[in-house]
Amino acid sequence: VAAERGGYPHFMLKEIHEQPKAIRDTLLGRVSPDLSRVTLSELKWPEGFVKEIDRIHIVACGTAWHAGLVGKAVIEQLSGIPVEVDIASEYRYRDPIQTPNTLVIVISQSGETADTLAALREAKRRGRRVLAITNVVGSSAAREADDVLVTWAGPEIAVASTKAYTTQLVALYLLALYFAQERGRVSQDELHAILKGIDGLPQVAEQVLDTAPQIERFAKDWAHASDTFFIGRGLDFSVALEGALKLKEISYIHAEAYAAGELKHGTLALITDGVPVIALAMQDALYEKTVSNIKEVTARGAFVLGMTWVGDEELQKSVDQVIYVPHTLPLLAPIAAVIPLQLLAYYAAVARGNDVDKPRNLAKSVTVE
Ligand code: G6P
Repeated sequence: VAAERGGYPHFMLKEIHEQPKAIRDTLLGRVSPDLSRVTLSELKWPEGFVKEIDRIHIVACGTAWHAGLVGKAVIEQLSGIPVEVDIASEYRYRDPIQTPNTLVIVISQSGETADTLAALREAKRRGRRVLAITNVVGSSAAREADDVLVTWAGPEIAVASTKAYTTQLVALYLLALYFAQERGRVSQDELHAILKGIDGLPQVAEQVLDTAPQIERFAKDWAHASDTFFIGRGLDFSVALEGALKLKEISYIHAEAYAAGELKHGTLALITDGVPVIALAMQDALYEKTVSNIKEVTARGAFVLGMTWVGDEELQKSVDQVIYVPHTLPLLAPIAAVIPLQLLAYYAAVARGNDVDKPRNLAKSVTVE
């Protein structure tokens, strides 16, 4: 096993560090070399189908559901197609309103999660076209869906998902751009600018990983916490949810993610002296609003670890510590922002002496309902 871990003490750390390669592999052959077009030749959609899709339902569990939340925002913004995101165990039982041209997208690392498969089967029974985004080529989801977009993350062994999430995001970005391109919703200049950003993501991920020793130091402070909060707005909120889940899953520290503007509607009551808060400020358009939410928590004594872009000199004035990540488009921020949060969870779990790769009560793939 030590050899399989490739010199890393845990699979999770190995998999975190494999993200630049996993992202690169997931992009391979799907973007034209001149960064002008997305080509998803694996999608064998009937003639005209892409233009006719009138709504999308994304269905998934756990970390894959968090990827779906980012997918919704990005698909709606770029393609204009309305998207709903559901937890699979909810979707199955809520009688969702589908049109004949509703595309159902299931996201599943393993392709074997029972609730996700049940949602897939129910959508098919109703006559919907189903696209699976999965990391396992021969999985049930891959076999039963009409179309498959494979994430080329390679085998993910640690229970806490890391490289599967970032490659799911890559697949969703490509899909969103593909819809926009095929439906004439994006100018050539905009398409090129975003593809250039996407093409640079492996390097961004590498640079974020270089900050691991600093995150390890922050994690030692966090390891003693009992209740923590992750806040952000827009895409930052979706990443906050994933960051909080990682921390809970492996360090067993209670973490709650909140939309930063929603704090004052209840959560603020829980912010007392010394409570650790992670505040993501990666969305330029929402930056000022997030900073005022940060002030709401610091005024109540919170210990705030902020996250922003390299070069930002403002945030440090409002927080206790700052994680700086290399610049990319705000739309692509989730990929850069999640990596420090994965590392924070990892090092906090190690500091607490937990079994990082096999956390208590959790399974890698949940094949029962
Ligand atoms: C389990 C795992 C999670 C994962 C979820 C969905 O709960 O512990 O890490 O996100 O299942 O798994 P899937 O294979 O469908 O993505």
